[in-house]
Amino acid sequence: MSIVEKFVTMDYGPAPEDPREALAWLDRHKRRFGHFINGAWQAPLHAKYFDTTDPSTIEKLAEVAQGSPADIDAAVKSARSALPAWQFLTPHARARYLYALARQVQKHSRRLAVLETLDNGKPIRESRDIDIPLVARHFYYHAGWAQLLAQEFPGCEACGVVGQIIPWNFPLLMLAWKIAPALATGNTVVLKPAEFTPLTALAFAEICQEIDLPAGVVNIVTGDGSTGEALVAHPDVDKIAFTGSTEVGRAIRKATAHSRKKLSLELGGKSPFIIFEDADLDSAVEGLVDGIWFNQGQVCCAGSRLLMQEGIAEPLIAKVCDRMNTLRVGPPLDKAIDIGAIIARVQLDRIQRLVDQGVAEGATCWQPSIPMPSRGLYFPPTLLSNVHPTSIVAQQEIFGPVLAAMTFRTPTEAVELANNTVYGLAACVWSESVNVSLHVAAKLKAGVVWVNCTNLFDASCGFGGYRESGYGREGGREGLLEYLEPTWFKNAPQLHPRPLAIDQPPPQLTEAMSESSTPPIDRTVKLFIAGKQARPDSGYSTEVRAADGRLLGEAPLGNRKDIRNAVEAARKATSWVKATAHNRAQVLYYIAENLSQRREEIATRLSAVGGKQQAESEINASVERIFSYAAWADKYEGAIHNPPFRNVTLAMQEPIGTIGILCPAEAPLLGFLSAVMPAIAVGNTVIAVPSEIYPLITADLYQLFETSDLPAGAVNIVTGRPAELLKTLAEHDDIDALWCFADTPTCATAKSLSIGNLKQVFTNEGRHIDWFNPTQSEGRFFLQHATQIKNIWVPYGE
Ligand code: NAI
Repeated sequence: MSIVEKFVTMDYGPAPEDPREALAWLDRHKRRFGHFINGAWQAPLHAKYFDTTDPSTIEKLAEVAQGSPADIDAAVKSARSALPAWQFLTPHARARYLYALARQVQKHSRRLAVLETLDNGKPIRESRDIDIPLVARHFYYHAGWAQLLAQEFPGCEACGVVGQIIPWNFPLLMLAWKIAPALATGNTVVLKPAEFTPLTALAFAEICQEIDLPAGVVNIVTGDGSTGEALVAHPDVDKIAFTGSTEVGRAIRKATAHSRKKLSLELGGKSPFIIFEDADLDSAVEGLVDGIWFNQGQVCCAGSRLLMQEGIAEPLIAKVCDRMNTLRVGPPLDKAIDIGAIIARVQLDRIQRLVDQGVAEGATCWQPSIPMPSRGLYFPPTLLSNVHPTSIVAQQEIFGPVLAAMTFRTPTEAVELANNTVYGLAACVWSESVNVSLHVAAKLKAGVVWVNCTNLFDASCGFGGYRESGYGREGGREGLLEYLEPTWFKNAPQLHPRPLAIDQPPPQLTEAMSESSTPPIDRTVKLFIAGKQARPDSGYSTEVRAADGRLLGEAPLGNRKDIRNAVEAARKATSWVKATAHNRAQVLYYIAENLSQRREEIATRLSAVGGKQQAESEINASVERIFSYAAWADKYEGAIHNPPFRNVTLAMQEPIGTIGILCPAEAPLLGFLSAVMPAIAVGNTVIAVPSEIYPLITADLYQLFETSDLPAGAVNIVTGRPAELLKTLAEHDDIDALWCFADTPTCATAKSLSIGNLKQVFTNEGRHIDWFNPTQSEGRFFLQHATQIKNIWVPYGE
């Protein structure tokens, strides 16, 4: 028999991995686990346990503790008391602990891989070759950051006690993604693993003991959603990091709104897998297998929507079906298995329900005729074709081995289809043309884009979503920022909005008044929408008075309709979004130039509210601030990462989109510019609500913008009652981010009302920001919130 014939006829024999060592480890713990708190195992305070099972056999593996609020409290106390000593360690000492964790993970890598496969049902090939090596890599990489922290992040410090909640699809990997950056930056941790997959987190707890990690630095409390809820609600937690469903992400945003907890959310996705006619189709099909059938499709960034250019749809589908016929579904401990078990019955039912619904909506369902195991929780690889873009299977995360296929004609149509979901986690683009791939990659709303590759991950490259896929990044430099805060910000006092003091006799408001007895010409202040001065929809104005009660003028009372018009204008201001960084810088310099030229008249008016001295300082600082952001406009750049593969990863800084900004009350001009300039410097468009104390500044601002070549709609200004306008901004689905500089209750409102489309919220957390001090009020801290990083992976070599 020739080798070719052998290949054709050869069948797979069983190649089972031996689970004995992992099972012996469970036996050593008598198959019952308490929580890991303060460096030791602790029985749950309410003595409640639940089973964790092997989804490939539905047999019980062990019992784990159900964490109660009292257990969470004990864990948070332990993390709090460990915090000062952990923070006081030198960066080098922390680096050694992280290095030790990485080494220990490697030493026990096979046991961890087997345990992961037993508990989760994923093929051993994946846990052994992908999950666990990436876990070790994550700790190594962050050992490096721990070492460099003081040099690379001066002026920053750890958030404090961090609560981390992770899902069941990559149990140990998600733990590493959370714990490594938290420890490297000097935080202490309470982590709650998913209820379906707690075992490797408990094995990791033992590793912490083995390397003598100081007690309390890592605490692990097992339990279900209610345990997670208790962790989120605990008042002594400084930050929550969550990975899981968008629904729970939304609940967590709401639950943390009235606290100062920093929040990062890595949520669901419905990632497009786009194949152009000129792609290498065989490679693309292999990529697709990895994209959607990796981990049974239970992957937040799974390429679950196949978008094919029309001309190749037929041959491509034939190739996909051929390949699906060769996939092997079966016991995950078998080394030659492609698709393992689904995590739980509830998930299996959910997958079936969604597939049925898709078929009812017109999709054609195809499944290969391959052997399926007779016991355990399995779902066959499934292809749904003729899927309508609005069908539930094209819009909702299925989290199973189900691919929904659609066609497109042009690159523009591909981008439209790709972006036609509420999510924005990842995307794949397959084309042999580098121009087409990068052109499309730039237009996709996704935090990660893989060009001619898929599902590549590395600790050096940030991972995280756009839109309802969440916010914040894990990995890379940007991942560390999620666990750090500027020291000045952490220690800033509570904001007490003070009435602006008058430091001199009231200035003459208009020359006309002093020169003659004729009444002064009214200076009508309007809203500024789409580059035009606009009267408010309400037809009302409100009086603006100085601190001493004098009437300074009347400002228009904007309402919901005005905000909606402003959002529409901001969305249409694409010329600003497309402008080069150099052009944006030029416009900003021009604004500064015009402000400088008109300083006298603006100062005269401004001094009516805060006094002459404040007015002059505000104008001086404002000119400087605009200059500063003009400088940043073409210098706030991304990076190129070199992960350990044959590829480069381009980390691009992209604007978030349209930002609603409630400007600070304290310094009407400087506060407005300090908030709006960083947003527009990097290409966002803005709807700004100026300081309630002196909204009349609007007239001066729009005159500046009108004369400085700022395109219509790039900045829109709506005056009115901040509380009312804030609500409309927060609830508007076409606003991508909300910035709010106000007192604590207003900041809490901004956060809790923004959950609809999960817009990114940036607030001062009710703290005082000194707008005259550039260390606090300008630079990277603001630019980081004005941008989101897209990582584009581009392979090279033949
Ligand atoms: P989930 O979002 O409910 O669970 C994730 C984690 O959050 C678990 O540790 C859970 O115990 C915890 N949790 C649940 N409710 C909580 C609450 N109110 N407060 C704090 N923590 C809470 O996800 P689930 O139910 O396991 O899966 C449901 C669907 O979510 C899946 O079908 C899939 O579509 C999606 N999902 C997405 C993931 C992703 O990585 N994007 C991961 C897991 C699930």
